[in-house]
Amino acid sequence: MRHLIDIRDLSVEEIGALLQLAGDIIARPADFADAASRKKLATLFYEPSTRTRLSFEAAMLDLGGHVLGFASSDSSSASKGESVADTIRMVQCYADIIAMRHPKEGAPVVAARHAAVPVINAGDGGHNHPTQTLADLTTIHREFGRLEGLTVGLCGDLKFGRTVHSLVAAMCRYPGTHFVLISPKELCAPDYVTDMMRRRGCSFEEVRSMEAVMPELDVLYMTRVQRERFFNEADYVRLKDSFVLDVPKLAAAKKEMIVMHPLPRVNEISVKVDNDPHARYFEQALYGKYIRMALIIKLLGGF
Ligand code: NCD
Repeated sequence: MRHLIDIRDLSVEEIGALLQLAGDIIARPADFADAASRKKLATLFYEPSTRTRLSFEAAMLDLGGHVLGFASSDSSSASKGESVADTIRMVQCYADIIAMRHPKEGAPVVAARHAAVPVINAGDGGHNHPTQTLADLTTIHREFGRLEGLTVGLCGDLKFGRTVHSLVAAMCRYPGTHFVLISPKELCAPDYVTDMMRRRGCSFEEVRSMEAVMPELDVLYMTRVQRERFFNEADYVRLKDSFVLDVPKLAAAKKEMIVMHPLPRVNEISVKVDNDPHARYFEQALYGKYIRMALIIKLLGGF
């Protein structure tokens, strides 16, 4: 039995196989319509979500499975003080696989320790978000036909942005990745993230403005400043609009450069960019469903 807590729980070969399976599902969805029939997915979301929870649920329904769960801790027994360990002991009696989002870093590891069914981390605090990374890798791979040798700009809240931490952990393993870290000093990537790049022999640069680096990038990965992880509102207000991508800034980009964003967007991408040929963030959300279908098939024991 396997869990997905950290993107590095999957080998590069396994990620390749998931991307291939997601491609097959996109090409021939009817072949997979019963792949999880009579199976149940529990979505335990202790933190807000739109795309991640709904794409997990849509993925399970498209595989012919069923879904149950809760969308906020207020509507679960967590509000009465139940521990994650006890909740998981219950839920594993009712479901074959669990996707869990929690504001505390490490909560999905605790869940996995107590679970007799696969647990998927759907985002833990400011730490990790491996299934968003699978959606990101699907988007990049479908666009460029490869994951190697790309220059990836990561822009915005690199400190608290869990999607960035997981994406770095994944992309570090592909030779020739160059990261351009674009953030205010206060929101720069944690040391453990830059250490990972060093250990893997990835090159990276840290800059404070996106204009100068725009022509270098193959991918510009924008992120929201993570308001809920700030200790004080004044800092959030000061930093929230540090980077705003608009159409004029894209003029300097390579023709094939793509703009990604895990969403939700607040102000960091002007809505005018939505119709720009570089924009891929809505496709990225759609790929999130297909790659989660592939992941569910794999964790439930193959097809
Ligand atoms: C992200 C998350 O929850 O970390 N959203 C998502 O899952 N697509 C990004 C964010 O909330 O900023």
